Amino acid sequence: MDHFACLAPMTLFARCLSTPPVPCLLPHLTLVLPFPVPHHVSVTSSSALKLPTFDACVLPGVTTVLLLIRRHHPEMAPKRIGIVGYGHLGKYLAEKVKESPDLELAFVWNRTTSLVENDLEDKYICRDLENCSMFSPDLIVEVAHPAISKKFGPMFLEVADYLIGSPTALASQEVETSLRDAAAMQGLYIPAGAFWGTEDIMKMADEGTLKDLKVTMIKHPSCFKLQGELYSKNEQICEETAVTLYEGSVRTLCPLAPNNVNTMAAAAMAAHNLGFDGVQGCLIADPQLREWHIVEIEVTGPEIAGRKFSVKTTRQNPANLRAVTGTATYASFLSSVKRAGGKGPGVHFC
Ligand SMILES: NC(=O)c1ccc[n+]([C@@H]2O[C@H](COP(=O)([O-])OP(=O)(O)OC[C@H]3O[C@@H](n4cnc5c(N)ncnc54)[C@H](O)[C@@H]3O)[C@@H](O)[C@H]2O)c1
Ligand SMILES: *[C@@H]1O[C@H](CO)[C@@H](O)[C@H](O)[C@H]1NC(C)=O
Ligand SMILES: *[C@@H]1O[C@H](CO)[C@@H](O)[C@H](O)[C@H]1NC(C)=O
Repeated sequence: MDHFACLAPMTLFARCLSTPPVPCLLPHLTLVLPFPVPHHVSVTSSSALKLPTFDACVLPGVTTVLLLIRRHHPEMAPKRIGIVGYGHLGKYLAEKVKESPDLELAFVWNRTTSLVENDLEDKYICRDLENCSMFSPDLIVEVAHPAISKKFGPMFLEVADYLIGSPTALASQEVETSLRDAAAMQGLYIPAGAFWGTEDIMKMADEGTLKDLKVTMIKHPSCFKLQGELYSKNEQICEETAVTLYEGSVRTLCPLAPNNVNTMAAAAMAAHNLGFDGVQGCLIADPQLREWHIVEIEVTGPEIAGRKFSVKTTRQNPANLRAVTGTATYASFLSSVKRAGGKGPGVHFC
């Protein structure tokens, strides 16, 4: 028997019952619950409940009404989160998910589990991603490495909704196609990260009025985690002047800076008429910028009588030296996790 959750208006209880529900409608009864009520739950009259959407059951001889709902009811039951990767972000998320009444930890996977075992109860530890469906996740969140999506992304989308924390993986056309195809079953969710104005840019892309999009990221050299030629270019910076490390397509940039340009990958997915080849990315290392990560977004629209539509935003995120991820990013990622899921098949932003 699957678990059930008991509901009060708009609020979720702990899972508590597996009694087979006897369907009936009983408006205007006071809801009395025969078990301790968690502190974050308020109990009010059942008349406030939308009864027809639930299975209701009356215990014989008692004026007690229990409202039962299947665990996977998207609006009401806690969303079960599977976390893939247990680095900085994974650890933060696992903690926050456990604290949050509307989220529930389904599993945590890490490439090596030795240290995870000190932190987490055994019931949460997934040792083999192939078997992650055994943990019944509603949403799988990748916070490990772009390589995970290539290998497991389509499988994740068979099991649950999938939030791709490292969307730079999608710069590979093969990975993008395989995930878009697999998202015919469940939803693929892309965290906006430091990207601003996703909805507006998507609307322009839908209409075909988005002509250009450029995302510029400016950080202290120690805040970049780069590969190949960009790595050596960044290492050689010794003067106090800012250096442009890269300017060109986001497609080429993603494999060179996989941990830094998730925001640009999100931009390339939102600006789908331009895509990874059309959206421009620019990385600037500025030795004077010791306390901020800056992201500039320049949107260009159609030209009317010599005048071009344009929007430019500048996002200033407080960040410490050597921090690849700005402090506001953790909270923003958590809110993406909360917003993700339940929107059906296709690609969604959160
Ligand atoms: N979209 C966003 O807004 C956003 C924000 C922050 C981080 N991220 C991304 O999330 C991921 C994790 O970030 P973090 O700050 O926690 O990094 P981290 O380095 O602290 O943790 C990464 C974890 O994944 C593991 N890992 C690394 N390579 C792996 C591989 N090939 N296969 C399996 N596991 C691997 C590491 O051992 C570690 O446990 C990174 O890809 C990062 O780019 C995205
Ligand atoms: C997670 O796995 C990585 C190897 O990918 C390892 O270095 C790290 O210590 C592990 N983290 C924990 C908390 O076990
Ligand atoms: C995962 O499933 C396979 C077969 O489906 C099984 O052989 C393996 O033992 C399982 N692993 C775990 C950790 O349960």
